[in-house]
Amino acid sequence: MIFKPFMREGFMPLPVAFISSISKNGIRNIAPYSCIMPVLRPLDLICLASAKRRDTLVNIRETGDFVVNLAGTDLADKVVPTAKFSPPEADEFKEAGLEEKPSALIKAPGIAGCYAWVECGLFKAYEESDYVLIMGKVLRLEVDDKFLRPDGTLDVAKTKPLMMIGSKKGMHFCTVADIERFEPFGAMFPNGKDPLAAKYE
Ligand SMILES: Cc1cc2nc3c(=O)[nH]c(=O)nc-3n(C[C@H](O)[C@H](O)[C@H](O)COP(=O)(O)O)c2cc1C
Repeated sequence: MIFKPFMREGFMPLPVAFISSISKNGIRNIAPYSCIMPVLRPLDLICLASAKRRDTLVNIRETGDFVVNLAGTDLADKVVPTAKFSPPEADEFKEAGLEEKPSALIKAPGIAGCYAWVECGLFKAYEESDYVLIMGKVLRLEVDDKFLRPDGTLDVAKTKPLMMIGSKKGMHFCTVADIERFEPFGAMFPNGKDPLAAKYE
């Protein structure tokens, strides 16, 4: 079947991350974002695409920081409440019944009950006519120990990261499965050595 070009997210499952931010007047905000990705291994940059009319965007520009909260499927019922329009003066933690997890390095608070918290500082905003690409610099990355395997990798069966596939009518929420296949980064290189290996030590 051939699909319309804008249907691309129907075939590439996307993460559903909750972006928490705070306004210059101290109002807490939450919004789910799926257009989000890391920028190249091993950089510490993360990129999110934002429509222009977003309190999240205003807050990030005004205060210079935000948290990317990574959630499991247990928080799927918080997606629509945090995606619905709320005026900028509404405290979206209270509205959604979510507790705050104070951040260590930035003003924006994280969300309790997520499995990972990525504290970011605004690095750059690339403005286009109807969207803005926000590039964040990751300042601190915390993962709840109970979701880690002994080797420090994420136990996806336990975590059930919240993801989404778009369709003509809406969003199908899903998660990922580990297929128990591992390849070292070095496998991509002719000498079997990862040129970035020292970064991970
Ligand atoms: C699963 C999901 C993913 C979303 N992803 C994005 C996104 O990547 N970028 C965006 O601008 N809006 C996205 N939205 C819409 C915003 O979450 C929504 O407009 C929200 O009300 C914005 O809140 P704010 O004005 O408080 O920032 C998404 C909504 C849902 C339900």
